[in-house]
Amino acid sequence: MSQVLQARGIVMTFRNGDEETEVLRGVDVDLATGELVALVGASGSGKSTLLSILGLLLRPTAGEIQIAGERVDRLNEKARAAFRNRRLGFVFQFHHLLPDFTAMENVAFPAAAPAGGISPEMRRRALSLLDRVGLSDRADFPATRLSGGQKQRVAIARALMNKPDLIIADEPTGNLDLRSAGQVLDLMGEVNRQDGGTFLICTHDEHVAARCDRRIHLVDGKVQPDGERSDHPN
Ligand SMILES: Nc1ncnc2c1ncn2[C@@H]1O[C@H](COP(=O)(O)OP(=O)(O)OP(=O)(O)O)[C@@H](O)[C@H]1O
Ligand SMILES: [Mg+2]
Repeated sequence: MSQVLQARGIVMTFRNGDEETEVLRGVDVDLATGELVALVGASGSGKSTLLSILGLLLRPTAGEIQIAGERVDRLNEKARAAFRNRRLGFVFQFHHLLPDFTAMENVAFPAAAPAGGISPEMRRRALSLLDRVGLSDRADFPATRLSGGQKQRVAIARALMNKPDLIIADEPTGNLDLRSAGQVLDLMGEVNRQDGGTFLICTHDEHVAARCDRRIHLVDGKVQPDGERSDHPN
């Protein structure tokens, strides 16, 4: 299996004035193509920080990151933004949909924004992704008129728009009821199996973690080695 992500020695120290907070203390992460991996750990253990770093939203204090064979930690801001947009998909706890845009427009956004508009081809792909997430009949609804679970499904469709190498999800079901969380989870599992999509999902939810291929457990700013981990997601 080919490697989608290889991160080595990720260190993150936040500095606020004189105060230093060392959140990540040398983290290695490897993800093979088509893996569905849960990132677990206690609240404050650095999961969101690590996802932001791997998603090129935050620069680490130290460490190397390769995504799809490309060394990405040294890219300048513009190249990072372009790489993020083209190669990565994001799903957050709060959907971050554009409220005045329709479901279809939100899904098309990652392709439409850099191009300056929605081409017929983008529209077709966005509609097929909405169909995929079971929301064909909501394509023309503004985001504000969708339920929480529907918004999150739109957010997943949006994350898939540019056929990303890696989808990074931070508590994607954290804000949903059990049933909607189940649908979102089914959907990610289906995309993973059918399209070979690679997912790194941070979660406190045991149901989510249990359905992943494996877990990466963060403890005290490091990855707990296999075998030492508890079966608990926190
Ligand atoms: N900008 C910042 N400046 C200083 N400290 C920060 C900053 N961002 C995060 N931290 C600290 O880093 C630690 C890890 O935060 P992070 O959000 O990554 O945790 P988490 O594992 O995602 O937690 P949760 O499960 O509650 O979402 C926390 O102690 C937090 O206070
Ligand atoms: Mg978090």
